[in-house]
Amino acid sequence: MKNRNLKHKDDRKTPQRIYDYIEKKFWIISMFDPCPFQHDVDSWDWLNIDWKSYNFINPPYSLGLKTAFVKKAIEESKKWKTCFMLLPVSTSTKLFHDYILPNKREIHFLKWRVKFSWFNSKWEFVSNKCWMHDSMIVVF
Ligand SMILES: C[S@@+](CC[C@H](N)C(=O)[O-])C[C@H]1O[C@@H](n2cnc3c(N)ncnc32)[C@H](O)[C@@H]1O
Repeated sequence: MKNRNLKHKDDRKTPQRIYDYIEKKFWIISMFDPCPFQHDVDSWDWLNIDWKSYNFINPPYSLGLKTAFVKKAIEESKKWKTCFMLLPVSTSTKLFHDYILPNKREIHFLKWRVKFSWFNSKWEFVSNKCWMHDSMIVVF
């Protein structure tokens, strides 16, 4: 991974179950991912490039990066693009009240905890462990 400044919580892979959920609920099978797993941000910074018609975003979870991706998804939705965002449920925050709620088309609170995969601090690939937060899919 070239972007060595990325924290482990910023770099977690989405399980297939989430894509299956979106396909079943919204009939969308092909989505662009503007924040790919272990992406080299120095070569493509997708916060500054236009996204596609249908996008799936599981953003880095550090507050600054998460906020930047939410704002970008809102900006893209105003250009008639659809953005499905997988986010931790945190409803007492400024981000939720000032950005997500007024701009969302739909919010789906998941009934289960998402099992992400990631490389831990020893560079072992960890999977099948439940994330410590509840999650929601926000459609912008
Ligand atoms: C939580 S991970 C999600 C990975 C993948 N999208 C998935 O859902 O499995 C967030 C990813 O965003 C990427 N990222 C961070 N900043 C980015 C940027 N400015 N442009 C593109 N990707 C970025 C990192 O490589 C990181 O792996």
